[in-house]
Amino acid sequence: MRKPLIAGNWKMNKTPNEAVAFAAQFIQYVEDCEDVGIILAPPAPALTAMAVALKGTNIKLAAQNVHWKESGAYTGEISTGMLAEIGCSYVIIGHSERRQYFGETNETVNKRLNAVLNESMSPILCVGELLEHRKSDRTDAVIEEQVRGGLEGIKPEEMKNIVVAYEPVWAIGTGETATPGQAQQVHAFIRRLIKDIYDSSIAEEIRIQYGGSVKPSNTAELMAQPDVDGALVGGASLDPESFAGIVRYNKMN
Ligand code: PGA
Repeated sequence: MRKPLIAGNWKMNKTPNEAVAFAAQFIQYVEDCEDVGIILAPPAPALTAMAVALKGTNIKLAAQNVHWKESGAYTGEISTGMLAEIGCSYVIIGHSERRQYFGETNETVNKRLNAVLNESMSPILCVGELLEHRKSDRTDAVIEEQVRGGLEGIKPEEMKNIVVAYEPVWAIGTGETATPGQAQQVHAFIRRLIKDIYDSSIAEEIRIQYGGSVKPSNTAELMAQPDVDGALVGGASLDPESFAGIVRYNKMN
């Protein structure tokens, strides 16, 4: 059984004080949730304050990006060692906004992923097609290239620490969610690919999150799909009540 994993990606939103104020409320809404893994990814300046605010709770901390070098003359960059020391457990890698605006490639995604694993944190590997890919029937080809490129050289025993997030770029921040059927189709394709690269037990274990306009009202139907194991949530994770509504998508949670 794959335990669902729901992550909030705040992108470039919230100062450290705003982040801590969110945490104070949100912790109360979800403190009894045991059957869902919960992650918050604030912007880097808020990570230290959030590590303190979330200590001893059921909420894990994630960074939104990281560099692959251990240290050195890389102005503006942050290393995995720095994130691990703060208390990050996860790092989002290869988000489509990084691919679109900051020159991220499958090769740099792969370097970052390796660096995160080497620091004993878990990467969330983001993949997703553009609208033009979907319209020209190239979704599977693009996803395959991103999955294979991102996981290049990753050993089977390292796969248990990896999460994949499928985020169709046309659904991010647009209010246009993939239908549960569209999401399921690509999630199943990703799982088959992982089976092809590794084996069926690794494919059965890996958690694949869906991202792209997830909100409290559409989470349950997405999560009901057999290969959807969680959500990576942008806009709807900025408000404590709304994000708690997503985490508690199942009234039993
Ligand atoms: P959204 O963003 O929920 O605002 O569409 C999702 C993401 O980019 O992770």
